Amino acid sequence: MGHTLFGALGLFSLNILLYCGHAQDVPQSVLTVSPSWTSPGDSVTLTCSVEPPSAGWRFFWYKAVPKGSIAYTYELLAGGTTGTEQDSYIIHGQTHTAGYKCRAGRGDPVFYTQNSDLKFVWSGGVNPAASLTVSPHRLQHFSTESLSLICEGNSAEWRVKKADEDGKRSICSKWGAMNGSTCNTDTRASSGVYWCESETQSSNAANITIHRESVTLHCRHGDQRKEKNADFYKDKTLIEMDTNHQHTHEITISLMSDGSSYKCRFKD
Ligand SMILES: *[C@@H]1O[C@H](CO)[C@@H](O)[C@H](O)[C@H]1NC(C)=O
Ligand SMILES: *[C@@H]1O[C@H](CO)[C@@H](O)[C@H](O)[C@H]1NC(C)=O
Repeated sequence: MGHTLFGALGLFSLNILLYCGHAQDVPQSVLTVSPSWTSPGDSVTLTCSVEPPSAGWRFFWYKAVPKGSIAYTYELLAGGTTGTEQDSYIIHGQTHTAGYKCRAGRGDPVFYTQNSDLKFVWSGGVNPAASLTVSPHRLQHFSTESLSLICEGNSAEWRVKKADEDGKRSICSKWGAMNGSTCNTDTRASSGVYWCESETQSSNAANITIHRESVTLHCRHGDQRKEKNADFYKDKTLIEMDTNHQHTHEITISLMSDGSSYKCRFKD
């Protein structure tokens, strides 16, 4: 039943995407950054392409400037309001973590593509004006231990941010709590790239892997001779039904220390 529900939701959102694509028909800019990890002083190449591909575009390059806790405003990079003919743009001497967007335009008046997604160039090097220290000092952790993400440098107000695998960004309050300039994570923290940001500074970034421990729950019947099928409940909601007769006496859940209570019940 659970699977059917997710299947239905998946189809539903796909339909929305397809519908939007047809309704607007505006080409999309796609930005790639290379390399995505840098040391201070490295050059970074931004490349912008248009989907679906077509000719005659000029390219516009933007740098993200933090605004408030999660949003950014975008500052046009040199290349200016007329854009560049080249579909790539080289940034010399990248010194810290920074986000970029691009878009293409052509014609007069200018017809623009949709903006690209925001892509980050991560700095692995130390920048005294803004630094992130992870404690315990390693990049592999378990979700059951708290980590401290410590921001230091030229700001009194730091935000600790995270970008997950598909680029989704969030701030400390989603998976921890700030104490001064330190974010102490809780069990909601998951793998991703973490960094510190103020209105004017961005720190080095750390690609942290957080392993979720998992446990297997067994449901054992008093009468050991009988093969029995069980239903599993999480906080009174059915989470696993005996649809297949092989694994109905045990389930594996990731241990999220979420305070849920698990129960199983045998079928008659
Ligand atoms: C914040 O950190 C300080 C210094 O480490 C500590 O003494 C204090 O108890 C912490 N506050 C909270 C709410 O955890
Ligand atoms: C972070 O590390 C994971 C695991 O090693 C890797 O798959 C991922 O691509 C890395 N992310 C970035 C942005 O480098």
